[in-house]
Amino acid sequence: MPPAPLPLSGKSQRTTDSPITYFIQKAIETPGLISLAAGLVDEESLPTAEIGAAVSDLMADPATARAALQYGSTQGLSSLREKVLHHVCEADGVSPAEIGLSVGDVVLTTGSQQLLYLLGEALFDPGDIVISEAPSYFVYHSLLVSKGVRVLTVPMDDGGMDVDALEALLKRLTRSGEIARVKLIYTIDYYQNPTGLTLVEDRRPRLVELVRRFSTYQRILILEDAAYRELRYSGDDITSVKRFDERNEFVIYTSTFSKPCAPGLKTGYSLLPTELVGPILHLKGNHDFGSTNLTQHVVNRLMDTGAYHRHVTTLQDVYRAKRDRMLRALEEEFGDLPGAVWTVPAGGLYVWLTLPSHIDTGPGGRLVPAALESGVLYVPGEFGHVPDEAGRVPHNEARLSFGVASSDQLAEGIRRLRQACRGLERAGSRGGKVAVGV
Ligand SMILES: Cc1ncc(COP(=O)(O)O)c(C=O)c1O
Repeated sequence: MPPAPLPLSGKSQRTTDSPITYFIQKAIETPGLISLAAGLVDEESLPTAEIGAAVSDLMADPATARAALQYGSTQGLSSLREKVLHHVCEADGVSPAEIGLSVGDVVLTTGSQQLLYLLGEALFDPGDIVISEAPSYFVYHSLLVSKGVRVLTVPMDDGGMDVDALEALLKRLTRSGEIARVKLIYTIDYYQNPTGLTLVEDRRPRLVELVRRFSTYQRILILEDAAYRELRYSGDDITSVKRFDERNEFVIYTSTFSKPCAPGLKTGYSLLPTELVGPILHLKGNHDFGSTNLTQHVVNRLMDTGAYHRHVTTLQDVYRAKRDRMLRALEEEFGDLPGAVWTVPAGGLYVWLTLPSHIDTGPGGRLVPAALESGVLYVPGEFGHVPDEAGRVPHNEARLSFGVASSDQLAEGIRRLRQACRGLERAGSRGGKVAVGV
């Protein structure tokens, strides 16, 4: 007799493996494959010497060594919290006090992903509503599904989230009474994962104005995921949405050292509305009572010595060249394909490619095997979408990352992708299915 089923919780049963696992596995298994899929960072430029020096400096002094090797606090190293607070506020041209922030509102987490998770635990019950850009970060969408949250989406254009469409949605939800279930609006407002798009300046105060206006039943929060803010290759830095939350009431700002320094540090930070700090820390206390103390000391040291800021400047040059190489290759290879368009990101790690509607980029479509055959991998765009009411998602988009592949591989990878598309143009694609564009 087979054993009785495991007594899994509802949440565990709603939680599935990430769709991207298959793609990561493929990349590992297939020699010579060029991966434009992985969200990994450039390997050559990882700050190995700087981190080596920071660790040996810390260990050379018995006092700092002991402090770094002891347990830390749940909220995180106070000197690093102080530094990230000033780092963000300086970028926004304000003092912390001007926008109601103090070091007590800063929490350090195991990557910004942990904050996304803890926030989900603190805020959501099954049936609650989160409004997200479409497309968006599919790992966050999985987390929301696992919490039983209903995800409603707002389209994006060249200026990021369409705030007029957001306002229309909030009005509709007010009329239907569902506004009482809306808890959060999620935006990746700098060089978004997966599209590379940025929320333009004039929409930022508008976002705060909207949540203020529609918070009639309960507060609607904004989660500003600024994971890529520092990876900026053209244009000026743009003021955060947080900057317009003048009494620190509505906006959770989160970012990370993973992208601009090293993912292996897995250190993230957040600026939270004060009332949210307690609930987040209680949950974090149960979870791990503090992220890895040693890495917090390492990051603190990198910021103290200026190594962190120098590294960000180096990275900007490295990725700018890689982005430009990918864009040039797209122009060369896809410039003559009617209906093919792609974003030109001012930062981040991703370009979003939209193909003619007859080319099905989805995991069940024909481009994935054709691309594998040609030796290149991309992320199907539909992973970033939440199905609409009719269960549809666009089938003709792809996320292309210029993070981990070398310049030569980027050019070759795009050439291979075009080759894979050519095969499909001749053969036609998935019969009869109508692709929905964004
Ligand atoms: C938009 C976005 N937010 C958050 C994260 C989480 O990163 P980490 O936990 O390494 O800080 C990622 C990672 O790729 C991301 O793309």
